[in-house]
Amino acid sequence: MKVTVFGIGYVGLVQAAVLAEVGHDVVCVDVDQNKVDNLKKGEIPIYEPGLTPLVKSNFDAGHLIFTTDAKAGVEHGELIFIAVGTPPDEDGSADLKYVLAVAETIATHMNNHKIIINKSTVPVGTADRVRATVSGKLDALSKTGEFDVVSNPEFLKEGAAVNDCMRPDRIILGTDSEHAEKKLRELYSPFNRNHDKVITMDIRSAELTKYAANCMLATKISFMNEIANLAEYFGADIEHVRHGIGSDPRIGYQFIYPGCGYGGSCFPKDVQALVRSANSVGYKARILESVEAVNYDQKEKLFEYIMRHFNNDVKGKTVALWGLSFKPNTDDMREASSRVLMERLWEAGAMVQAYDPEAMEETQRLYGDREDLRLMGTKEATLNGADFMAICTEWQMFRAPDFELIKTKLKEPLIFDGRNLFEPQRMAEYGLQYYAIGRGLSVKGKQ
Ligand SMILES: NC(=O)c1ccc[n+]([C@@H]2O[C@H](COP(=O)([O-])OP(=O)(O)OC[C@H]3O[C@@H](n4cnc5c(N)ncnc54)[C@H](O)[C@@H]3O)[C@@H](O)[C@H]2O)c1
Repeated sequence: MKVTVFGIGYVGLVQAAVLAEVGHDVVCVDVDQNKVDNLKKGEIPIYEPGLTPLVKSNFDAGHLIFTTDAKAGVEHGELIFIAVGTPPDEDGSADLKYVLAVAETIATHMNNHKIIINKSTVPVGTADRVRATVSGKLDALSKTGEFDVVSNPEFLKEGAAVNDCMRPDRIILGTDSEHAEKKLRELYSPFNRNHDKVITMDIRSAELTKYAANCMLATKISFMNEIANLAEYFGADIEHVRHGIGSDPRIGYQFIYPGCGYGGSCFPKDVQALVRSANSVGYKARILESVEAVNYDQKEKLFEYIMRHFNNDVKGKTVALWGLSFKPNTDDMREASSRVLMERLWEAGAMVQAYDPEAMEETQRLYGDREDLRLMGTKEATLNGADFMAICTEWQMFRAPDFELIKTKLKEPLIFDGRNLFEPQRMAEYGLQYYAIGRGLSVKGKQ
């Protein structure tokens, strides 16, 4: 099928590559000339496991085309995906300017019937706004054109995005058009073979489903962080509590890991956006406001431990920081907990020596050259001359490090772990003082 994807980001590029892989002809349109040029040279702008070979092979085979030519893009696609960013506005609500700009572009170049598919995460009612924008632009241009608008939110996880798109848990189609549903079922049929994963519903319910999913996951994390904070006060160990509650199938083990807060491009902005959407209809979303507030505080947690340990003075100290991306297997630093920690440490006069397997370039891009940031070639190199160590991302390669080396290299044998990677008892045996989230005695450094 002839498909066009507007927005070649984490969602658009992966979706486009996966659609091309099963045989669809996909044109990707982006306003970022640099990104398009690089993709044509085989340079993939993001790190996502399995993505590079998929993009390269389908580009070489001619199934995947990258362009800034919106007219060519619109004319090509019978199905047109909108997968552009929906960043938070000044007040935290989703900024729809990119989505609506694409809607105008589609109307401007529309040459035959189009199925316009909102894949970006957008507030309830956005499909109506897209429809109105397209109609308004067609009127303004004295053009006629037929089109459907569908909500088809994306549920991929960064770090596992290719697999998630190849083997989706569900394909949500919010539509009021039989024609559009038929076409989308056909488009996704290669990914829908084992059992029917397509769930159809009205457009508004589809739009809300995406927010509900992310807000539920964020709620689980903030809930667990709240219990971890309580565990610290009570002298309990959150890891025991986690095992204890996860064994209940109604609760389950997934997404109940305590830590130094959630980040990324989705949870923080989607929770905020739903809170603001709720406000706009006169409803106070109290649970979600708390989810956001707990997470905000949780991102300060490691810095609080550090300041408490050092009696509020880290001026001149050097921190070996492991992990910069907001979670493992991605280079995405949006809203990453590491950023809060680094920025607080810098404000307090400390030096950061950091390592991340994938997010070093992104860190350099975000912060540029500064005297209090050194990006090191290996995790071990961060230890050179460092006073203590902190961990912000649970990359696999951090899980079984050489503790003897850590102990001998650090000026003080001290680890602040925002992802609870190690056992406090073992750390004590190594002679390392270990602060983790919600691990009772370890927090007070008394093991
Ligand atoms: N990243 C995720 O894990 C994820 C998962 C599910 C849903 N989403 C949602 O998907 C949407 C996209 O997220 P992302 O992370 O891929 O964003 P991104 O920032 O990585 O990419 C967005 C792309 O859109 C391009 N763009 C902006 N305006 C354009 C225009 N007028 N025409 C063509 N291209 C344009 C930008 O240049 C950029 O390349 C968001 O609404 C997000 O909430 C993201």
